[in-house]
Amino acid sequence: MKKIAEITIKALDNTTITIRHVKKSDMHGVWKNFNEVLEEGIYLPVFTPVYTDWEKKTWYENLKKENEMCLVAEDNGLKPPYNIVGQCELSNLQWEASIHVFSLGIIVKKDYRDHGLGRALIDGAIKEAKTVYNKEKIILSCFSTNDRGIHLYESIGFKRVGVRKKQFYMNSTYYDEIMYELFIDDYMNEHP
Ligand SMILES: CC(C)(COP(=O)(O)OP(=O)(O)OC[C@H]1O[C@@H](n2cnc3c(N)ncnc32)[C@H](O)[C@@H]1OP(=O)(O)O)[C@@H](O)C(=O)NCCC(=O)NCCS
Repeated sequence: MKKIAEITIKALDNTTITIRHVKKSDMHGVWKNFNEVLEEGIYLPVFTPVYTDWEKKTWYENLKKENEMCLVAEDNGLKPPYNIVGQCELSNLQWEASIHVFSLGIIVKKDYRDHGLGRALIDGAIKEAKTVYNKEKIILSCFSTNDRGIHLYESIGFKRVGVRKKQFYMNSTYYDEIMYELFIDDYMNEHP
């Protein structure tokens, strides 16, 4: 399995994290992370957790079938499913005419945030999107309340292209959605 990056987090007892492409056996760790972030209730516009093997297997098979991409961050000191501590998924849009564009979603496990994993996952994802999947552009969106996400995306070079006001309603609160885009060649020129 091709290694995209390796990171040592000194503040977490010199934990080493490998960034790599997902494999089928990661599916339980990937969805465990997703369900945990859902439970936090403030980051993702989704209510339904994913528990069944059928759903997880279908997700992985679709990823391969549709030629979509998922990078994971693996804590080398932990056993599955606890070893998967972050993931960055790049999906196709529903439009045939947007085959040059990937849509990005990212999650890092709570205890591992603010140690550079999000930046490393997105950096790897952008480069792989160009070199392996031949994409030109990446889009993403987040809640306007997600200060950490907004800081990360804008410092990487994503440009804010719009706001959908009150796009989500969760736990009696409306959330605005901020939309971003990044042209991969611009990023590659700045991060050779
Ligand atoms: C958003 C997320 C993926 C980022 O991953 P991460 O590993 O924490 O990101 P990094 O450590 O690489 O970078 C975080 C940056 O935000 C900064 N930051 C942290 N809290 C912040 C805050 N409240 N306001 C502004 N910036 C903040 C950090 O200092 C760091 O910036 P720096 O690299 O310039 O020092 C992760 O925090 C996460 O999974 N959050 C919950 C789920 C989520 O929001 N997913 C994305 C939905 S769109």
